[in-house]
Amino acid sequence: RPVAKETAFVGSIDCGTQSCRFYIFDQWARVVAWHQEEYSQIYPEPGWHEHDPSVYMTSIDKCIKEVLKEFETLGYEKEMLKGVGIATQRETTLVWDKNTGKPLCNAIAWPDARNAATVRALKEKAEKTMFTTPDGQLQGEEGVQAITGLPFSTYFSATKYAWLLENYPEVKTARDNGTLQMGTVDSWILYNYTGGAKNGGQHVTDYTNASRTLLLDLHTQEWSKELLDFFECPEEVLPKIVSNSEPYGEFYEGHVLEGVPIAGLVGDQQAALVGNKCLSKGEAKQTYGTGCFMLYNTGQDIIKSTHGLLTTVAYKAGPNAPVTFALEGAVAVGGSSVTWLRDNLGMVENAKEAGRFAEEVDDTGGVYFVTGFSGLFAPYWDMAATGMLIGLSTFTTKHHICRATLEATCFQTRAILEAMAKDIGEDGEPLEVLKVDGGMTGSDVTMQLQADILGIPVERPTMRESTALGAALLAGSALKLFDWDLTDPDSLDSVNEFGVKTFNPSISHEEKEWKFAGWNRAVNRSMAWKT
Ligand code: G3P
Repeated sequence: RPVAKETAFVGSIDCGTQSCRFYIFDQWARVVAWHQEEYSQIYPEPGWHEHDPSVYMTSIDKCIKEVLKEFETLGYEKEMLKGVGIATQRETTLVWDKNTGKPLCNAIAWPDARNAATVRALKEKAEKTMFTTPDGQLQGEEGVQAITGLPFSTYFSATKYAWLLENYPEVKTARDNGTLQMGTVDSWILYNYTGGAKNGGQHVTDYTNASRTLLLDLHTQEWSKELLDFFECPEEVLPKIVSNSEPYGEFYEGHVLEGVPIAGLVGDQQAALVGNKCLSKGEAKQTYGTGCFMLYNTGQDIIKSTHGLLTTVAYKAGPNAPVTFALEGAVAVGGSSVTWLRDNLGMVENAKEAGRFAEEVDDTGGVYFVTGFSGLFAPYWDMAATGMLIGLSTFTTKHHICRATLEATCFQTRAILEAMAKDIGEDGEPLEVLKVDGGMTGSDVTMQLQADILGIPVERPTMRESTALGAALLAGSALKLFDWDLTDPDSLDSVNEFGVKTFNPSISHEEKEWKFAGWNRAVNRSMAWKT
C-alpha cells in the first residue's frame, strides 16, 4: 500500500572504503539531507590495509544523527523516514564470535594484498583439484572461475579468510569450536543494527556481496559445497544469502532509528548500477570511488569473461525476482590515488587542488603513473605489479604528476572498455556513451580526460550519488514506498531526472592512440615487478 508521498522519505547508508555517508531521499531522489564521515585507514605493513570494525558502526551512527538533526531542522519528523537501504564496499572480510558479537581481528579491507603467497599456494592446490562446473569437470583456476565468475586473486573474501585461518589461531579455534561467523561489511552492519549477538542480529549477506567471496556458485546461486571444502570453510560460518530488496529486520531497540525497517542490502558498485537505472540488458555505468568499477548489465545471462573481467551478480530485486548478472571491470586504485598524493606525499591539499594543478598544464610532459598499489586488477590481474611513476625528467612538476594521476584511472577505464567490447562480442552492443558517478566525477578535468582517452562521450548526472540512491531504491521498492518497483523500470521514470552534463572527446584519434600506447608500455614495465 503506497504511503502518502509528502510524508515519506527513504534513507541510505553508503559504507565505502574511505568514508561512510547517510542520505535521506525523497520520491524524486532529491537529497533532502546528508552527512559524510571519513575514517582512518590502517596500514600495519606494506601491502596491508585494515579497518576497525567498530569504526564503521560509530561513523555511520554519527552520520545518521547529523542527518536527522538537519532533517528535523528542515521541518520534517523522524517518523517520516520509512525505511533504510545499505550499500557497502565489497570483499572486505570480517570475522567475529557468534556468542559475543565481538570481532576477532580488524577487517581486512579489499585492497589488502598480504595474502599473495596464500593465493599462490591455493592456485597450486586448485591445479590438483577437480571441480564440477557447467562446462564439465575442470581443474585449477579455470574450474573456480567457471563456478564463481572470478579469478584467483588477493581481492576476494575467501582468499582473505584462508590467510586468517593460517595466521590467526583464534580464527581457526573459533571455526573448530563452531563459534566463528564470517561476513562482508554488509553482513556486519546488518548484524549489528538488527541486534548483534545479544538481540538476535541477522547473519545474512546479499547476492551481490556473496558473489565477491569466491564461494558463490553463480549457477545454483548457493554457496558452492566444493569451494567450501576447498577453502575449509564450514557453511555455518557463512551468512545466509538474501535478495537485495526485502525487509531484513529493524534497527534495534534504543537506536536512534529504532523500529525503522532495513530493506535494501547491496554491494556499492551494484548499488550504483541500480542508482543509474541501468536495469536493462546492455546498460552500463562506471563509478569512481576509492577504486573504479564498470558494470555492464547482462540480464539473466552469465557471460564468461575471456578478457580479464569478472562475472558477478548485478542484483536480485526481491526474494522471488530472478538474479540479474553483470560483467565487471574492477580497477583497484581510483580516487585513492589522489588521497595518496594528499596524505602520503603532501603534494595537494585536496582533490580539487589536484584537479586545478592538472588543468594548469597541457599534458603530463611524458609522465605515466601506474597506480598499482595493490597489484593490478582488471583486465591485467597481476598481483606482482607495483605502483610506478615513469617518464620523469627535470621538466616534471607536481602539475604533471597530478595530471598523470588522473589519467591513470582514465587509461585503466579504457583498457576495461576494450575488454568489455571483446567479451560482449557480436551479441552485444558496444558502449556508445559511458554513464559515470562517484566522487572523482566531480572533477571536470578528469571527466574531459576520460572522454578524450575513451573516444566516446561521458555522461555525468547532476545528482551523482548513485550508490546511495541504488540502496534507497532497493529499500523503497521492497517497502512499496512511492511508486518505485524495481521489477518495472518504467516506475522509476521520474527518479533522478535532474539533467546530465556530457563531456565529448576533444582530441584526435592519433593522439588518443599514441597516449594509450604509452600507458600500455608503462603497465608492461610495472607488471611482475615483485617476482
Ligand atoms: O570492490 C570494492 C568496492 O566495492 C569499493 O568501493 O566505493 O570504496 O571504491 P569504493
